[in-house]
Amino acid sequence: MASPDAKDRLQPAGLLEIPVDDNWLGEPDFEADLGPNDEQQNEQLDIAHHMFSLLLGGKLLLAPVNKDTQTLGLVLVRDFADEYPSAEVTGTDLSPIQPSFVPPNVSFEIEDATEEWTYPPNHFDLIHTRALYGAIADWPEFYKRVLSHLKPGGWFDQLEMSIQFQSDDGSVKDDHILSIWSRTFTEIGEKLGKTFRIAELAKGYMEEAGFEEVTEVKFKLPVGGWNSDKHLKDLGRWNLIHCEQGIEGWAMALLTRVLKWSFDEVMTFLAQMRVGLRDPKAHAYFNVWVLPISISSVGTILIG
Ligand SMILES: C[S@@+](CC[C@H](N)C(=O)[O-])C[C@H]1O[C@@H](n2cnc3c(N)ncnc32)[C@H](O)[C@@H]1O
Repeated sequence: MASPDAKDRLQPAGLLEIPVDDNWLGEPDFEADLGPNDEQQNEQLDIAHHMFSLLLGGKLLLAPVNKDTQTLGLVLVRDFADEYPSAEVTGTDLSPIQPSFVPPNVSFEIEDATEEWTYPPNHFDLIHTRALYGAIADWPEFYKRVLSHLKPGGWFDQLEMSIQFQSDDGSVKDDHILSIWSRTFTEIGEKLGKTFRIAELAKGYMEEAGFEEVTEVKFKLPVGGWNSDKHLKDLGRWNLIHCEQGIEGWAMALLTRVLKWSFDEVMTFLAQMRVGLRDPKAHAYFNVWVLPISISSVGTILIG
């Protein structure tokens, strides 16, 4: 079901006020984040959060981080604050989407992660990022910043989803709406200059930035409850709800502003996607990558 406020979602959460109408004609503001931060999308993030903790066996991250730590996290700060009660936890985002009730060891800052960071070098014991796909233009530069702001021996932990729907049994063919979705948003990422393929590309960019011996942990995340394995069936059901909740917000501003689709074209595409996501013949999944790394494995750190 389309949300009753679908038209409001032509206006993304980016910091700039951009005039909109049904067939928006201006140039997209490629600097702004083109995802909404409204209630519907925040619910999607909550569903994603539950789904990722199921995926990681109840953990917040894979890095074996000491409980006595400082953290820079994006949004997940409340859980980190509970898990690491002695830590000073800082959450950052482009826009104020943070909950109002948080533990005392949490602070929030509106920060653009692609600008010069306001924290001192060698400051954090842990930097955690999740689902920043489509948000960063220069990933090697971002990873250099992460490196320079970690203490020696500190950890970086990143989780990213692939947007490539696929199947192992050929049930998601190239002309399936899920494949069309993947191709469409991959193209948008390239046009924007902010890739949606960071899950696939992260290891290479991290190495380019100076991380050594990067380990990738790859998980299959089914779409829907088609898998006979109980854990994967459960995950798939959550992921179906996650995608159904997310697609309108993921698509609306990007398709109208970057590909110049009309509002009605987007609504038709979304209706086809809703059918495709529940296609009982499609054994679809996409991959999720987690990259935990300690900079104790880095020989020299360049701070600049
Ligand atoms: C898909 S959400 C993921 C949120 C959170 N990391 C999580 O996993 O629940 C992406 C978030 O990144 C934020 N974002 C996008 N570009 C950013 C930037 N340049 N600096 C900081 N945050 C950014 C968006 O505002 C949005 O809240």
